Amino acid sequence: MTIAYLNDQFLPLEETRVSAMDRGFLFGDGVYEVIPVYNGHAFRLEQHLERLARSLAAIELTVPFDYIRWKNLITELIQRNDGGDQSVYLQCTRGPSPIRDHAFPEKITPTIFAYSIPLYTRTLEILSKGISAITVQDTRWQRCDIKAITLLPNILMRQRAIENGAQEAILINNGYAIEGSSMNLFVIKNNIIMTPPLSQHILGGITRDLVLELAAQHNFAFQETDIPEVDLYAADEIWLTSSNREIMPVLMLNNQPVNNGQPGALWREMIQHYQHFKAQVGLTQQ
Ligand SMILES: Cc1ncc(COP(=O)(O)O)c(C=O)c1O
Repeated sequence: MTIAYLNDQFLPLEETRVSAMDRGFLFGDGVYEVIPVYNGHAFRLEQHLERLARSLAAIELTVPFDYIRWKNLITELIQRNDGGDQSVYLQCTRGPSPIRDHAFPEKITPTIFAYSIPLYTRTLEILSKGISAITVQDTRWQRCDIKAITLLPNILMRQRAIENGAQEAILINNGYAIEGSSMNLFVIKNNIIMTPPLSQHILGGITRDLVLELAAQHNFAFQETDIPEVDLYAADEIWLTSSNREIMPVLMLNNQPVNNGQPGALWREMIQHYQHFKAQVGLTQQ
């Protein structure tokens, strides 16, 4: 039985109830986080909570939670769901309104919801199978740096990928490859790891930051730089990253193999560093 948290209460997920007048339901007026948990420990919790704080500030929503209160909530949720490897979903909305009005209500009682599902552990063998992607025009708004629950364009772009036999869509904006519908983008050419710089056009991924950190630590050449769409088609390797899917090599793009259609040498090195980093954090936090 999955245990969830809703407005100060832990309860079975299927018993959670939110008002139909909740602004999350009416407008998608809220923000969220997805936090992986390894061996009972929330991974990169500080970074996730910092991003949550930035998202909340950007949508001008105040919640009565500081770092310690969030940490306690998440720790208890993990324990109540039996530790191990999980994925915690956390969402804050601007709460229920007496009427449906775009303007903020006078009195705001945020709805705070969290739950957790077992995290499917991807072995190296599974990760090596990679994913297929297609390119699509980016139809999102100008504040993709906010981790907003309003995800209709992302949903439609991902669905386009599925209908084309792929798992992810790589979004193209003004001729530049930006990111995936729910993952950050890395392109490797001549042993240089490139990723688009942080801006309002992309979500600053926690996994993206860690990959850059590991690249610096292990002396890989890397650049935060704009990536013209055409460079995708000449790439030696393409990776997509996210908290739950880690670093996935893209082996097919628009039904054509990326390079030789096999995971590349730099991916093999980076994924080892990533797994090693995860294992170390688990051990040091015991
Ligand atoms: C649009 C988008 N880009 C990138 C990411 C990857 O972010 P993270 O590594 O923090 O999971 C996500 C995650 O959901 C996303 O939705």
